[in-house]
Amino acid sequence: MNRISLLLILLFWTTAAAADYDPSFKIGKEKAKVCMTCHGEDGISTIDPYPNLRGQKMGYLISSLKDYQSRQRTSGLAILMQQQADTLSEQDMKDISYYYSVLGTKKEEE
Ligand code: HEC
Repeated sequence: MNRISLLLILLFWTTAAAADYDPSFKIGKEKAKVCMTCHGEDGISTIDPYPNLRGQKMGYLISSLKDYQSRQRTSGLAILMQQQADTLSEQDMKDISYYYSVLGTKKEEE
């Protein structure tokens, strides 16, 4: 295989991977309704032991949700989140995490 075809495959693979997920603020917001009871309407929680999610990194949110689902995260009030994470699909996690990562940032207006 020459270098050009290798490059083409790589290019196709990366664009195909990107096309896999089209983030939507609206869909994420809809799915995040249940989260708002604890994490606040605007992603800022009003209860001290409940963390803020507004503007958090997407990758961190996804990995946290996966850790709750797989019971890797068990400290303190994690049991509350384990139950929440159990109801989410992989796609839900992406949509909701995208929503919170963009919430309160300039990207929200785009
Ligand atoms: C019943 C209240 C409750 C609901 C509903 C809830 N959470 Fe949580 N969430 C918590 C608590 C409490 C923690 C802190 C748990 C701990 O100590 O690990 C938390 C932690 C998190 C964290 C980790 C944050 C960090 O900084 O490490 C994420 C991410 C998260 N929640 C996302 C969500 C999402 C997404 C939803 C909706 C699907 C949701 N939560 C619904 C109570 C809730």
